[in-house]
Amino acid sequence: MSHIIAPSILSADFANIQRDVEMINKSEADWFHVDIMDGMFVPNISFGFPVVKAIKKHATKPLDVHLMINDPDRYLQAFKDAGADVLTVHLEACTHLHRTIQGIKALGMKAGVAINPHTSVNMLLDVIEDIDLVCMMSVNPGFGGQKFIENTYRKIGALREMIRTTKSNALIEIDGGVDLNNYKKLVDTGANVLVAGNTVFSSADPAKTIAELKKI
Ligand code: DX5
Ligand code: ZN
Repeated sequence: MSHIIAPSILSADFANIQRDVEMINKSEADWFHVDIMDGMFVPNISFGFPVVKAIKKHATKPLDVHLMINDPDRYLQAFKDAGADVLTVHLEACTHLHRTIQGIKALGMKAGVAINPHTSVNMLLDVIEDIDLVCMMSVNPGFGGQKFIENTYRKIGALREMIRTTKSNALIEIDGGVDLNNYKKLVDTGANVLVAGNTVFSSADPAKTIAELKKI
């Protein structure tokens, strides 16, 4: 399977959301990456349910919803109703992560777990067989357009090995600072899904940039 490209809506033009969603529909992108920030777990607030529903109304590809919020159990059903296909929670934000993962899957969504740059991949060992995706943060979450953290390559290698030995089906998603200079090395190291916000939306031709990121 070729790697998946998930443009991050966080960097889209919110006054022209339908236009940007349709650009992604027509492009070679595979998923929509949708970042939800609560101003508590991360020092920024992005957007909530009305915007997710508006994206879903026009999107023809799956919504990969990344919750950067405390205590996400409160909102699993609401994100299902808003149109999430993949729902990712932060390991650092869940006291009963195993229960949260089961809750996401019981609602018929794919379950993802995100880890911050300081969190060891070893923390995933006892849930890796239960989840569909690991979102490995390659920047500290909260903002688009930040610099990629190089230690991520080492973490991808360790996670790839864990997935191999446990025979897990989890995809490795890289989120933050992905660009045209590092995407190939990320895929070669073992990444399956690349999120890209700034690289796509600040380029002169976003659809062409998505096609570039898809090239092996
Ligand atoms: C950061 C978000 C990312 C962000 C990535 O907290 O989780 O999804 O949109 O943006 P870029 O690709 O600009 O680093
Ligand atoms: Zn994200």
